[in-house]
Amino acid sequence: MKLPGWAVPVGQAEQVRQELRARDLLAPGVRWLHEGGEVVMPLRLVPTPSPWVGRLVEREFGPAERGNPRSYTEFMTGLSPEIREQLPRAFDVVGDIVLVRIPRELEALSEPIGQALLRFVPGARVVAADLGVHGPERRRSLRRVAGDGGFSTVHRENGLAIEVDLEAAYFSPRLSREHARVAGAVRAGERLLDLCCGVGPFTLLAARQGRAHAIVAVDGNPAAIALLRRNLERLRSTVAVEPILAEASEFLLEPRVFDRAILNLPMDGARFLPALGSHVRPGGAVHYFEVVERADRPGFGERVAAALGEGWRAGEERTVHAYSPRSDLVGLTISRTAD
Ligand SMILES: C[S@@+](CC[C@H](N)C(=O)[O-])C[C@H]1O[C@@H](n2cnc3c(N)ncnc32)[C@H](O)[C@@H]1O
Repeated sequence: MKLPGWAVPVGQAEQVRQELRARDLLAPGVRWLHEGGEVVMPLRLVPTPSPWVGRLVEREFGPAERGNPRSYTEFMTGLSPEIREQLPRAFDVVGDIVLVRIPRELEALSEPIGQALLRFVPGARVVAADLGVHGPERRRSLRRVAGDGGFSTVHRENGLAIEVDLEAAYFSPRLSREHARVAGAVRAGERLLDLCCGVGPFTLLAARQGRAHAIVAVDGNPAAIALLRRNLERLRSTVAVEPILAEASEFLLEPRVFDRAILNLPMDGARFLPALGSHVRPGGAVHYFEVVERADRPGFGERVAAALGEGWRAGEERTVHAYSPRSDLVGLTISRTAD
């Protein structure tokens, strides 16, 4: 039958599926389509407003054999209701890798959870237990629980193909909306600094959008800078991008001035704010990310503005996602008043 469908890159399909399901927009009993690196989800109604990523298409859909499973847990059998209740509800997809946090009490079920996710997630190659990010370079510790191969892959988001190596350099698919939001704020002719750039998701999207005059991207992890260089080769943007392998505090000793800066080092970036403030010209802006305890949220924007120096004003502040039971990752835009 012919129906509207929502086409979205595989890596973002789970987030969008949850949104469409919560809004009761998915057509029941109809088989999803897989087209290249995209999933097309059949719709009952056209979503208004649109999900934040993807596009509306029209396709011929066939009936699903036993309905589309609503959760990977439907592929797991023989579990008591109590155990079922404890199974992880959320997971992330990076390219063809599925990341899932498995509670210690359920470690014995790691393999069946992995096998179920392999069946559930379109295009999945390997499932890894996500043991979190560690150390100053925020490298991810992973344990393969199902599937084959390593943790290098190409992740697609916002129309970009980004090469990542999840154990060697930080990358999070949960920030794709922020990558788009920040890149979208860059104005024509701006000089952009991406401090603690990782493999470069902000830099790459800003470079592809093409409005910046030049971008400087700094990270202390050699693997991150090597991946960024490869991603830039793949992108072939006309924007001049300078990847720099450096400790942030040393880079900030250089007398370079930018129109806009990004700082996404959520647990530790606050210490760079005083130096960063003087590297952004009057009238410029900083996009800053920090993990904030909910109890400390009042006045957060003003504290960050004060740390940047005189003449900074807190602007748009948003919760990117929950980080722990008591804290959130918060994104904040701070502007420097013009002289
Ligand atoms: C949370 S990751 C963010 C990466 C990237 N901006 C993104 O959004 O995907 C933080 C990055 O900061 C880098 N980093 C941490 N401390 C640093 C320092 N003192 N100097 C330079 N880079 C640093 C890490 O190597 C890591 O790539």
